[in-house]
Amino acid sequence: MTDLVKKICCIGAGYVGGPTMAVMAYKCKDIQFNVVDTNQSRIDRWNDKDLSNLPIYEPGLDKFIHKCRNKNLFFSTDVEKYISESDMIFISVNTPIKTSGIGAGKASDLKWVEVSARQISRYARGNTIVVEKSTLPVKTAETIKQILDTESTNMDISNSREFTVLSNPEFLSEGNAINDLLEPDRILIGGNDESSINALASIYRRWVAKEKIITTNLWSSELSKLIANAFLAQRVSSINSVSALCEETGAHIKDVSLAVGLDKRIGEKFLEAGPGFGGSCFKKDILNLVYICDYYGLHEVSKYWNSVIEINEWQQKRIPEIILKRLFGTISGKKIVILGFSFKANTNDTRNSPAINICKRLIEEGANLMIYDPKVSAKQIGKELGIKISNNNKDKSKCEGSWSYCESTIECFLKADAAVILTEWQEFKKLDYEIISRDMRKPAWIFDTRGVIDIEKTSSYNLNIWTIGNGMK
Ligand code: NAD
Ligand code: UGA
Repeated sequence: MTDLVKKICCIGAGYVGGPTMAVMAYKCKDIQFNVVDTNQSRIDRWNDKDLSNLPIYEPGLDKFIHKCRNKNLFFSTDVEKYISESDMIFISVNTPIKTSGIGAGKASDLKWVEVSARQISRYARGNTIVVEKSTLPVKTAETIKQILDTESTNMDISNSREFTVLSNPEFLSEGNAINDLLEPDRILIGGNDESSINALASIYRRWVAKEKIITTNLWSSELSKLIANAFLAQRVSSINSVSALCEETGAHIKDVSLAVGLDKRIGEKFLEAGPGFGGSCFKKDILNLVYICDYYGLHEVSKYWNSVIEINEWQQKRIPEIILKRLFGTISGKKIVILGFSFKANTNDTRNSPAINICKRLIEEGANLMIYDPKVSAKQIGKELGIKISNNNKDKSKCEGSWSYCESTIECFLKADAAVILTEWQEFKKLDYEIISRDMRKPAWIFDTRGVIDIEKTSSYNLNIWTIGNGMK
C-alpha cells in the first residue's frame, strides 16, 4: 500500500511539521518529503548549512536534518508546486485561540487550516489523502472535506480528483520530540476510508509496532487529542495545587509525588510541581474543550475543565507574590536573576511560558531583571515581554522595573538580591552556588520554582532557599 505514496507534502514547517517529517524521512528513504511554509525566514533557517541555526531547538533534530535534507527531505516556500506533486498532504499549521469574533478567547482559530484546505483543493492532482496533523476541534475533518469538495467542483479538473481526509494527531512533547517520534506510545489514525488509513498506517508500520497503531473514526481521533492534553494539564494543575498545600503544612511535594505516583493506577509521570504549565497547546486545547462543551450545553463539564486553567493561572500569580514577600515586601530597584525563559527545558519555545507573566509582574513591581536562558534569544524575550530591553544593566539602583539579557551565568549574579529558577535546564542544577553566593548581596535568595537544586547543600552557602512545594515559613 505504501508504494502508492511516493511524495508527501507537509504544510507548516513548525515545531511539529519539521521534526515529524525529519523522522519520517529518515525511516522512509523511498518517499520524498517536502515541508512547505509561507514563512520565508523559517524555511531559510531549515535550509541553513549551519545546523545550529535551525528555527527550532530540539535535542537530536540536527542529526536527522543532516542525514535527510536535500536527499529525501526538502524545505520550501513553493506551496503550490509541492501540493500538486503529492499523494499525501499533512496539514501541520498553527491553530491558536481566536482573538476576535465569535468564540474569541476560547475557540480555535482555524483560519490557517482553512487556507491550507483551499490551497490543497486548488493545486492537488489525482487522488490525495489529506491528513490532519494539527490539533483540531471535533468535526473539523467535515469542514476540511467540504472545502476540498466544494472547491473541486468549481474547477475543470474536478473529475480526475478525489480527496479523503484522515485525522492523525501528533503527541510529541517539545524537548523530547525525537524520542517521542521514534518510539511513540501510540499512533492514532481516524478516518472512514480503509485504503487511505492503510496507506498511512503502513508508513508508520516501518518503525512502529502494529499493536501501537490504533484506528478509530474521525471524531474519536480528533477528540482524543484534546482529551490527552487536557488530562496531562489536569495532572500538572493537580500537583501544583498540592504544592501550595505542602508549603502550608510542611509536607514535601517531591515525597508526596513519589508516594502517590508509585501507585500504578496513578503513575509517576507528570507529577512535578512547577510555576504552572506553559507551551502553545495545553491552554488552547483546554479552552477549546471548554468551548465545545458549552456549545453542546454541557456547562458543568466545561466548568470542570476550566478549573484546570484557573489553577494554572493562580500558580503563576503566586510565585511573584512569594518573591515579593520574602524580599521584605519591595523589589523596587532590586536586582533579580531569572534562570530560564523557555516554557520547559530542552526547547527554545517561549509560547505561554510561565516566565512571561512572572517576569512582567516582577518588572511591574520595579525589579531589575537579568534574564538568562541557554536557548532563548534577547529578541525573543523582548517580543514576549513587550518591554524594551534596558541598556544600562550596570545601573543596579534604578527603581523603575527593567530587564537585561545575560549571555551566560557568569557575572549576572553580581550584587543580585535573588535568583529565580523558572525552567528546569540541567545546567541550573550544576551551577556553583558557593561562588554565586559570594557575588550576591545579602540576604540573598534563591527561588527554585522547579525543585531542581539541592536545598541542604545550597543553603549551606549562606543563601536563603525557597523551593516549590517545600516553602520555608
Ligand atoms: P508552529 O506555529 O510552530 O508552526 C506552524 C507553521 O505553519 C508556521 O511556520 C506557519 O508559518 C505555517 N503556516 C500557517 N499557515 C500556512 C499555510 N497556509 N501555508 C503554509 N504554511 C503555513 O506550530 P506547531 O507548534 O508546529 O503546531 C502546529 C499544530 O500542531 C498545532 O495545531 C498544534 O496544536 C499541534 N501540536 C503541536 C505540538 C507542539 O509540541 N508544538 C505537539 C502536538 C501537536
Ligand atoms: C504537550 C504534551 O505532553 C504532548 O503530548 C502534546 O503533543 C503537546 O503538548 C501538544 O499537543 O502540543 P509540551 O507542551 O511540548 O507537550 O510539553 P510537556 O512536557 O507536556 O509540558 C507542558 C508544560 O507542563 C510545561 O510547561 C512543563 O514544564 C509543565 N509540566 C509538565 C510540569 O510543570 N510538570 C510536569 O510534571 C510535567
